[in-house]
Order: sequence, then C-alpha cells, then structure tokens
Amino acid sequence: MFTPLTQASTLLPSAPVSAATATGVQTFVALAYIVAALLFIRALAGLSKHETAQQGNNAGIIGMTIALVATITLALTSDPARGVVVTAFLIAVAMLIGAMIGIWKARNVEMTGMPELIALLHSFVGIAAVLVGFNSYLAPDAQAEMLGGFHLGEVYLGVFIGAVTFTGSIVAYLKLSAKIKGAPLMLPGRHWLNLAALVVVLILMVVFIREGGVTPLATTMLIIMTVIALAFGVHLVAAIGGGDMPVVVSMLNSYSGWAAAAAGFMLNNDLLIITGALVGSSGAFLSYIMSKAMNRSFVSVILGGFGSDGAVTAGDEERGTHQETDAAEVTQMLKDAKRVMITPGYGMAVAQAQYPVADLTRKLRDQGVEVEFGIHPVAGRLPGHMNVLLAEAKVPYDIVKELDEINDDFGDVDVVLVIGANDTVNPAAEEPGSPIAGMPVLKVWNAHDVIVFKRSMATGYAGVQNPLFFKENTKMLFGDAKASVENIIAAL
Ligand code: TAP
Repeated sequence: MFTPLTQASTLLPSAPVSAATATGVQTFVALAYIVAALLFIRALAGLSKHETAQQGNNAGIIGMTIALVATITLALTSDPARGVVVTAFLIAVAMLIGAMIGIWKARNVEMTGMPELIALLHSFVGIAAVLVGFNSYLAPDAQAEMLGGFHLGEVYLGVFIGAVTFTGSIVAYLKLSAKIKGAPLMLPGRHWLNLAALVVVLILMVVFIREGGVTPLATTMLIIMTVIALAFGVHLVAAIGGGDMPVVVSMLNSYSGWAAAAAGFMLNNDLLIITGALVGSSGAFLSYIMSKAMNRSFVSVILGGFGSDGAVTAGDEERGTHQETDAAEVTQMLKDAKRVMITPGYGMAVAQAQYPVADLTRKLRDQGVEVEFGIHPVAGRLPGHMNVLLAEAKVPYDIVKELDEINDDFGDVDVVLVIGANDTVNPAAEEPGSPIAGMPVLKVWNAHDVIVFKRSMATGYAGVQNPLFFKENTKMLFGDAKASVENIIAAL
C-alpha cells in the first residue's frame, strides 16, 4: 500500500506523478477520516449501554486503526523534502516507544489504579496541546501565516486549555493516588483570584494577537499566559474536596478533549478536531450528569471548590458504639431473608470481591431470595466502576439498579450487604455543614438489617466519619471483603 507513495516521494521533484499521488492520498485520507469519525460516534453510542459496550469498543478500535493508517500515510507524503524513509523511521521509533510503555502499563495497572492512570493520560493530552501550540507559533506553515490573527487565537487558546489540563490532571493524579492528602486548598478570595487570572489572560490575548506574528512581545505574552494557566490548573483542582473528585475527573476528561480539538485546529487536522470535540462534549455532558448526581451546581464545579467556603463540621470523631458480627450470623440472616440488596463500593474493587459476590448472588437466587444491587453513581473511583466490575463477574444487568431506581425501596429490604462502600452510604450527607452535605446517598439504614463489610472503622475517601456504623440495625463484618464473602458462601 505504501509502495506508490514511496516511489512518489523518492521521485520528487517529478511534479506530475507526485501531484496526482498527493491528490489520491488526500482523497484517501479525507474518506478514511470520515469513516473513522463515524466509527468514533458509533463507539460512544455503543458505550452508553451495557449490552452494546463491547460493540462500541470494537468500533472505537477499528476507527482508531483507520485513523492511524490515514494519518501515517499523510505524514509520509506531506514532507517530501525530508524523505519518506526518515519520516517513517521517526514515526516507527515514536510508536514503538509509546506502544512499549502503553503495553507495559496496561498489563500492570490494577483496576483500582485506573482512575489515576486516566488522570495521568489526560495530562499528556494537555502537555501535547501546549507543545503543538508553541511549535505552530514559532514555526507557522504557509497556510497558518495566511490565517494570521485567527491562527494566533487558536494557538493562544490551545496553549491555555492544554496548560490548565496538564497541571490540573497532575494534581488530580496525585490526589487520586493519595500522594496528596489533606483538606482542599482554600485560598482566601480564591474565586476572585481565578477571575483575576482569567481577565489577565484575556488582556494578554489581545496584545498577543495584535502583534500579528512572532515578536519578542508576543512570545513574552504567550509565556506569561502559559505560566498563569499552569498555576490556574493547580489551583482549580487543589480546591476540590475528596468527595467531589468524580466530577473533576470527568471535567478534566472534557478539558483534554478540547485541548485535543485545539491541537487539531493548529495542526489543521480535521479528525483531531472531530475527536477532540466528541471527547470534550461527551466529557462535559458526563460532568453535568455527575454534578447532578452529587447535587452540585455545574458552574461551581467549573469554578473549582464547588462554592463551599470550607466551613465543615463533620469530623473524624466516633459517634457511639458499633456492633460486630461474623460470617455464621450473616449467613443465617441471608437464609432467613426474602429480599437482599447489595451496595458495593471502592472496597469491593480493592478486594477484587466481585467474583465471590457474583457467586453469592447466584447461590441466594437459587434458594429463592430476591437479590438486587444498588449502585451509587460515584461508587468506586471511576464513573461506572461498579458496573464494570459486576459485568466482568457476569452479574445479570437487570438486577443492577441505579440509585434513583431503588433508593425508596430500602424499607422493604430484609438485609443490605454494604460491601466496601462508605461515603456512598453515609447519612452524614443529610447533615448541613458536612463536607459531603447534599450528596445523594443510598439510604441503606432504612432496611431491616445492614451488614457493613470492611476492615476497620476507618473513614472513606472523603474522610468523613460514617454514623451508619453506629446505628442499631447495623453490624460490622470486619476483614477483607473477598475473604468475608467467601466465608459466607462456604457456610451457605
Ligand atoms: P469509599 O468511601 O472510598 O470507602 C471505601 C471503603 O472500602 C473504605 O471505608 C475501606 O474501609 C473499605 N475497604 C478498602 N479495602 C477493603 C477491602 N480489601 N475489604 C473490605 N473493605 C475495604 O467508597 P465508596 O462508598 O465507593 O465512595 C467512593 C468515594 O470515592 C466517594 O467519596 C467518591 O466521591 C470518591 N471518588 C469517586 C470517583 C468516581 S468517578 N467514582 C472518583 C474519585 C473519587 P477499610 O479501610 O476500613 O477497609
């Protein structure tokens, strides 16, 4: 497939052959980009439902393969001066290094490490947009020069979005991997600081574009703006409290899409613009859904800090005495139950307890017990984290229910098994002043009996003590969730 192109570029400057080939390549690339873009849209549509997720994933893989072949073909023919061999060699080296790191990481990453890996990958998109921006500012091609102010605007915005995404994602990575702990950074007047930074960025943009090209003043403006954007990214995410991180993860996902789209404008690559816009808009929509699920306003999410003034009251203090139980007692309760609800959380992912949980579900259903799952939208550390784990363990989709579908049903449930969940079942969310105040939670305490599977009395991700553990109808089953569920299965 590459042979005619190779010949074309080595024959240069034999104009008629190369012109015809170039047109052919352009047509091929344009068609391939349209097919790839349609497949990406198909991928997003497929990924929106359990049943079609696999097909969606396949559509995405095929689309990306087509996009890669087309882009490499374009790259091989677009710079005849350098020669096709050198271009092919550079691409091959970059792809080899990238593929080696990617395969190594994909093989080694734990499911629990996925959120921080994704945050880190978003930071790569951010820094790529910054580098593309500086490159296309310092070495504009003929077309970009013709575009003048418009191109400079693209460069400026691309670098800004990229820099915010870069540092914001790094702070998110550090928070998600628990390398940064502690309270959110609440600088006095932080919203004014953000506003002032944005106003300065706008003023610098006017000066930058008016310069009309590469001048010392324009370069200085671009560098100052980049420094402000880097600090802005750190500040936005550092102000977010633990329990609110899910919205930040999807928001940075969206930013990384816009950064990619901006890079697409600068590189004049239509597919990158389309793909970036798809990621940016679907990420924005996901952020909107997540903010609604957390009962937060979308605008305050974007501004950082969620409008909270940091005046929190619920602390780490214990709230009474708790009762403990063991596998034998829980087994008996399950045998006597008619309706059981399982509410999994991050601890199920840590313990990899989804397989025994699926086993337990099968066994109970075989014995005529009605079993359902109640899934909180931010349970775990990734949007859809619990759904992915349960699907992996082959739990039937129709018994996996969303919070809205089952939150009023707990009164009719005999036993709730809270497996490694904490913040998502914390009644403190109903107390004003709590760091998780307003966040909808699974009202498990309305059930007849609640069994909490965890290893200690430690708090969850948001660092808020959980009054559920001290309620009269709650019993703690201490130990690793996987081992505890296996003990119950053995006793059934
Ligand atoms: P968490 O509140 O994080 O609590 C998980 C609990 O699991 C912990 O209390 C821990 O207690 C227990 N645990 C850990 N390892 C365990 C093991 N091997 N066996 C048994 N228990 C274990 O979980 P959640 O209810 O799923 O809430 C999620 C939190 O993460 C929310 O605050 C959410 O906002 C935040 N978050 C979510 C996302 C997304 S997108 N879903 C992203 C970032 C942050 P012990 O240590 O005592 O065992």
